Amino acid sequence: FGRSGHGLVCDMALQLVSVTTQQQLASLVAASPHTEFASACAWPDEVRGQDEFRWSAPHHYVNMPRGEKQVTIEDCPERGCILSAIADMQQRLAADKHDWQALLFLAHHIGDLHQPLHVSYADDLGGNRTAVYFYSHEMPTNLHGVWDTNMLSKLGYDDDYVKQEALFLQLTADNIANWQQGTVLDWANESAALTYDIYQQYRPGMLIDDTYVLQYQPILEQRLQQAAVRLAFLLEQLLTIENAE
Ligand code: ADE
Ligand code: ZN
Repeated sequence: FGRSGHGLVCDMALQLVSVTTQQQLASLVAASPHTEFASACAWPDEVRGQDEFRWSAPHHYVNMPRGEKQVTIEDCPERGCILSAIADMQQRLAADKHDWQALLFLAHHIGDLHQPLHVSYADDLGGNRTAVYFYSHEMPTNLHGVWDTNMLSKLGYDDDYVKQEALFLQLTADNIANWQQGTVLDWANESAALTYDIYQQYRPGMLIDDTYVLQYQPILEQRLQQAAVRLAFLLEQLLTIENAE
């Protein structure tokens, strides 16, 4: 996701955790270069190009062979991928609950794991090297950007706080109980199945407009909600429950 997607996921997660966890998150964020958890969750994208954090660049995604609709742990290369990165950052944070970098990587990667094209195919860099148009032939973009940012801004999530709050308020107790089930690999495979579907519809040079955006709106919104519920669940476990004894 781009800034607004990560901000949404982290803002919702913050509202879902206990007050104790909120306080721990606040002190972790205070040690980071950001002042709010929502904006701090985009930090891994700000540093992935810097020498010090170059190792983390391949940890934003995982790719599967073209035509597959499931990933396995074998798809994760030696240098790591989003699946191994999530496991590593969970371990780091469990070992040191003041490790703000581990927190921000974990929160960021849980968001990206739910953006279908971050569980995708290497031959076009997860849709970064596709050519599509968004609403007009004056707006060339690519499938990855459509899912990271274009659709979210079209749907009004960039700066509409009421819209963002609605996504949180729509969550039900059933949603929360159901989405906490499964493993990180299961969550990745929900994205993998969506990615397969997205490529079934993809034609080079296609025009993406209302038909496409309205078709995928409920799915995109549910992915944001699922990411938030699952991030909240993991943070509660890592920061509070395990440290309670
Ligand atoms: N580079 C290669 N594959 C990618 C993906 N799925 N997402 C983002 N960047 C990538
Ligand atoms: Zn992305």
